[in-house]
Amino acid sequence: MKPEITTKEKIAWIWGYLKGRRVLYFIAILGTLAYNVLQLTVPFFSQKIVDTFLSGEHASENLITQRDLLIRLIVLMVVFTLIRVTIVYLDCMAYEHASQEVLFRIRNRLYDKIERQDMHFYNTYRTGDLMTRLTGDLDAVRHMIAWVVRSIIESFSLMSATLIFLFWMNWRLALLLMITAPFIFVIIIRFKMKVAPMHALLREKFANMNTAAQENISGNRVVKAFAMEEYEISQFNERNEDYRDTNKKTALIWLRYFPYMEGIANLLSVILIVAGGLMLILRPDLLTAGEYVAFSGLIWALANPMRMLGNVMNEFQRFSAASAKVMEIDRSEPEIRDIPDAYEAKERLRGEVTFENVSFSYEDGTLPVLKHINMKIKPGQTVAIMGETGCGKTSLIHLIPRFYEPTEGTVKIDGRSVREYTLKSLRTNIGLATQDVLLYSDTIDGNIAYGDMDLSRREVERYAKYSAASDFISKMPEGYDTIVGERGVGLSGGQKQRISLARALAVKPAILILDDTTSAVDMETEKQIQQSLRELDFPCTKIIIAQRISTTRTADRIFIMQDGAITEEGTHEELIRKGGYYAELVRLQTGETA
Ligand code: GTP
Ligand code: MG
Repeated sequence: MKPEITTKEKIAWIWGYLKGRRVLYFIAILGTLAYNVLQLTVPFFSQKIVDTFLSGEHASENLITQRDLLIRLIVLMVVFTLIRVTIVYLDCMAYEHASQEVLFRIRNRLYDKIERQDMHFYNTYRTGDLMTRLTGDLDAVRHMIAWVVRSIIESFSLMSATLIFLFWMNWRLALLLMITAPFIFVIIIRFKMKVAPMHALLREKFANMNTAAQENISGNRVVKAFAMEEYEISQFNERNEDYRDTNKKTALIWLRYFPYMEGIANLLSVILIVAGGLMLILRPDLLTAGEYVAFSGLIWALANPMRMLGNVMNEFQRFSAASAKVMEIDRSEPEIRDIPDAYEAKERLRGEVTFENVSFSYEDGTLPVLKHINMKIKPGQTVAIMGETGCGKTSLIHLIPRFYEPTEGTVKIDGRSVREYTLKSLRTNIGLATQDVLLYSDTIDGNIAYGDMDLSRREVERYAKYSAASDFISKMPEGYDTIVGERGVGLSGGQKQRISLARALAVKPAILILDDTTSAVDMETEKQIQQSLRELDFPCTKIIIAQRISTTRTADRIFIMQDGAITEEGTHEELIRKGGYYAELVRLQTGETA
């Protein structure tokens, strides 16, 4: 269990992001205080007007003798109102500016964090959940800065200014109103306890719904292939319902406490009418009519914040749940990162790859996936790795660019552990065509030049030729400018593989790793690719995972893997002579026998 993040930490975290905007934010808070205090000017002046000109024995007399005062009071009322409205306007702008800036900063930082994470992170977090953090959760954080804090300050300043004013005017009546305070306190504490877990749950349900939508939209082909639309729609409906119901439940909690709060708010008026009325009648020396008017004109300033409390508390809890999620990513560090004083390989690596007694298991799995692997690949060599599905080939090659860390042993490049290189200098030396090809929603040119954006069109074409892709590309409507990927034209599996191969080649890697990259191309094309791989115009160690003998037979060395271990190793001829798994494979695929 991760330690719970406290509210104090959450506030401190936001405060950190407000850097450079703190003065602005502080001014905004002062503005809120100011315009709320200014709200009291109207009842203040009305009290004066009532007591001087409307009630009391000298009222009509005053109306004639002190006309100037009356006009001044009215003008002042108008002026203060104008000032207040202007402050409200500027204040809104200041909150908006500060909160948008914070939102922008956190979003950038979060994206940065997510982008730099290791494979383990991506295996752990679902895309929909990450998207929720980047959108809905962040919005709740912004809302806290722009609205919740403001509402709290507003309620607080309005209530305290009112109370001070009321106490100053007539402390007896004010004290009577204070009888309600402990009840408000109890209600709000109990409400908070009930509602806090609901917001955490609500946030989970929202992420669940987003994940379902995201997975089904991006995996829509599978859904269609199995005619599972109805099922997926009903699944989504269920989550949507779940979210709605949790939302309703959360809203209903306040409804349970609201009548009490409303009761107390109304109790204020009752106290005023009964106690104030009695005082007016029985002890007029203790309360003037003007004071009574000011009190009744100010009851709302006590009652409204009370009514708002539920809403504010709800939003605060929403922030609390969301910020915990955002902070989790903000604070996360990839386990795989540069060690202190990591070695920055300035020169191109020679491309010698060594596995020394390497064992590996996935963090979330228990069984070892690789067991005591020893391999030595010389610079410029071409090696093939073969073995049945699930034996650990992909896991093995993923240790070279340090996608994962071996649980035992060392992977070395040019005699230095891959751990010692900076990730950047290590990975820029490696060209990898992964097993499941992902192309970006970009042109073919953009996809091939992904690792080196400055690549000229001529070079892009050259690498496309190496990977036997130039023919089909030139037949496309817009050639290299054809948009592919998620919303572009469809490409066949083999076509995608060839673009991915060109992309891996285009960085002129010292080590080229092909994970089953030609599995979907025909024999003839594959032969062509093998030929061009031999003729590359830069030195390159090639590690090729393949299933076909035709791909592997010319390799300098072939490794056969079984169940996470290397069981055979040698050239094509050596392995045929050995008469093991490889020889059997040759026999099955070509009919040749040793
Ligand atoms: P093919 O690509 O099908 O030829 O298999 P492969 O030889 O490339 O196997 P791979 O290295 O992908 O997987 C080896 C073993 O590790 C299998 O038993 C997988 O189930 C397991 N495995 C692969 N990826 C993960 C992972 O992310 N987490 C866990 N826990 N296990 C994994
Ligand atoms: Mg694989």
